[in-house]
Parts: sequence; C-alpha cells; structure tokens
Amino acid sequence: MTKPEALKKLEEEIAADASLPLRESNLVFGEGNPDSEVMFIGEGPGFDEDRQKRPFVGRSGQLLRKNLRALGWKEESVYITNIVKRRPPGNRDPLPDEIAAYEPYLEKQIEIIKPKIIVALGRFAMNYFLPDAKISRDRGKIFRFKDFLVYPVYHPAAALRSTAVLGEMEDDLKKLPQIIEKADKLLAETKPEPPRVKESKIKQEKLF
Ligand code: URA
Repeated sequence: MTKPEALKKLEEEIAADASLPLRESNLVFGEGNPDSEVMFIGEGPGFDEDRQKRPFVGRSGQLLRKNLRALGWKEESVYITNIVKRRPPGNRDPLPDEIAAYEPYLEKQIEIIKPKIIVALGRFAMNYFLPDAKISRDRGKIFRFKDFLVYPVYHPAAALRSTAVLGEMEDDLKKLPQIIEKADKLLAETKPEPPRVKESKIKQEKLF
C-alpha cells in the first residue's frame, strides 16, 4: 500500500469509529506531503479548521504557514496535523481522555509518514511526547523520541498574543532547515527516549 493509500484508509477508519469523542465536530485528519521529513503537530482544530476540515487554516495557521513560506518551503511540502482530530467545543483544551482516544490514530499516522522531525506546536503536542517538558524552558530544544526527533516550539496562537513569544517562535522555526540537515546524524548518535509513561520521570536530554 502506498503512503497516500494508507493515510486514506486511516482517515476512513477514524471517520467510522463511533467510539471517538467530539464527534459533533468535523474530522480534521491532516494534510500535506506524506513523504515529508517534517511533521507539524498542533493541539486540535479550532473554529476555522472545523469549518474547512483542514488543519491550521485560521489566524494561527496563517501565521504558521507564513513562517514556513519564509523558509522558502511550500506549505504543501510538509505534513500538518493535530493531536485531537476534532474541535473541542468552544476551543477548550482537549481533555486527557480525548487525547488518549485519538492516540492510536496519531501513532499510525506517524508510522505511515515516518518523519525525521516532529515539530510539536505548543504544550499539548509537546507533552504528548514529553510529559515532563515545559514549553517556556524546552521550546527550541531537540529531543529524541522513538525513531524521530521532537522539536517543541511555541504554539502560533500564543505567538499571536505576545510579541516576545512571536519572536521566539519565529527564531525556533528558522532553525528547522539546519536541524533537518543534522537529523540523520543526531538520530544515529542518540538513543530513543524510554516509552512514554504517565507522570514519567523520563530524563530529557538536550541534543542540540
Ligand atoms: N490550533 C491547533 O492546535 N490546530 C489547528 O489546526 C488550528 C489551531
């Protein structure tokens, strides 16, 4: 099965899974290049994403996409998705049970794409991989997780609320081409994090 076929099948499985929470909202599966070395993962769809059934198309999405274009990248050259695939009512934070319910699908999505780097946008995406990390402390650091690197960056919605955060988010995103260049070396030189466990005391190693 090709990657696009595998992703299509996965999307159909999510759509058909009546046990999933938030089913009153539209499915926002993810989009972009299935062969991308970089995968951007946000928290969950907002109002505009729910309407358009596409990730990161509202104000924060436009800011993210502008920063990708500033790198000389085409938006469609990367893959973009979220932890939770449907909008929580009123844009509230996703609940732990909701994150857990969508987890098997996100895991499969990552397995299909096989990115070298996951850019975790904001604390929910970051804590999905690195439960003990703090966004203000750990954004812009590179962590090894399974067979990919995790790079936490401030969520663009936070950057829209603070010029200081905006500057830091933009600085971190600007480093991506350099990190991609080093990704194979970093992956070859380092060991994966131990499996993610709740309330873990995983030692998080700064690589770069
Ligand atoms: N915020 C997110 O975390 N994801 C989106 O898709 C849009 C806004």
